[in-house]
Amino acid sequence: MDLTNRAEARMISLCWPDGTRGDFPYIWLRDNCPDGFHPETRERLFDLMSVPADIAPQACRLEGDSLVVAWPDGHVSRFESGWLRAHRPGAADPDPARVAPEPWRGDSGAGAIPRVSARDVLGSDAALADWLRAARAWGVSIVTGLADSPEAGMDVARRIGFLRETNFGRTFEVKSRRAPNNLAYTAHALPLHTDLPNQEMPPGWQFLHCLVNEADGGGSVFADGMAMAEDLRAEDPAAFELLSTVSIPFRFHDDGCDIRRRQHVITLDGDGSVSEICYNAHIAAVFDMAPDVLAAYYPAYRAFMAKMRDPAYQVTLQLGAGEMAVFDNRRVLHGRDAFDPATGARHLHGCYVDRGEFDSRLRVLARAA
Ligand code: OGA
Ligand code: ZN
Repeated sequence: MDLTNRAEARMISLCWPDGTRGDFPYIWLRDNCPDGFHPETRERLFDLMSVPADIAPQACRLEGDSLVVAWPDGHVSRFESGWLRAHRPGAADPDPARVAPEPWRGDSGAGAIPRVSARDVLGSDAALADWLRAARAWGVSIVTGLADSPEAGMDVARRIGFLRETNFGRTFEVKSRRAPNNLAYTAHALPLHTDLPNQEMPPGWQFLHCLVNEADGGGSVFADGMAMAEDLRAEDPAAFELLSTVSIPFRFHDDGCDIRRRQHVITLDGDGSVSEICYNAHIAAVFDMAPDVLAAYYPAYRAFMAKMRDPAYQVTLQLGAGEMAVFDNRRVLHGRDAFDPATGARHLHGCYVDRGEFDSRLRVLARAA
């Protein structure tokens, strides 16, 4: 490893034998001195404002595999080379939860959806980690062999993290009811949608455990919102631009609540990749944009709706008792065919675990690997 102190740029440059180079601004090095973190909580104790913004080392040198920096106040920082390499500014932080999405379309067929047995994910951390990575890549998976109990699906969800409670409860019963407050609680078809875009943070992973599905109809439909959005970007960039920059209102209200939020139908992350879809025609509220914006927005929104209707994006399957669909509610859209309650029972038990909990579990499992 070579060290160059570039005083004119106020940084130290390191070059590793394989040619990897890192540039470390002085203030960054002082801010990230390992001594500045609590040894047990690992939280930062160091107060950045306790040193001048133009802090510069008095001396720096390599000692074995470490960079040693002496500061004007007498403090000495020691950084391991491997840590510096992993955290070099400008390089993405290594993150075991970052699993590249694999966008899919209807031609993949329902057979391509990753499947795993409840016994494996309940009994083995390695199987749990493999399953979470597959679910992250595909955005949807099926868990099989669940016990015939409303708790069985929740037990699998709790292997990942704590449940996200909503106005529909910590868990919810999807069956046809009298006096429903949600279309899901009827026997109607549900066109493709994401759940609860009216929430400040729509729930991340959704779990729908099928307890019984004996009525005529009631098939499940899934489509990858990421694939639909990427295709829209290629085919109609102006529509894509509107859907990712103009927010629309969503609202759910019943006797006990009135929950409203504006969302972009398509959300992009920092590098322009599609990171989230919010689409639910039933709880889209009255569009309140200015008339000239509406004139442009409606065709863009309808172009995306046309993709929602296009079988080229859809996979369909019939969940059976003991199976559970697990999907990223902020990426993969779900729906169901109408069913006839006179012909038999249909009952799903559902819950959510947010994306943050899911990713945290992946990172913790990766420590053991
Ligand atoms: C829901 C839902 C799908 C189904 O409860 O949000 O979309 O198959 N249910 O009943
Ligand atoms: Zn739903």
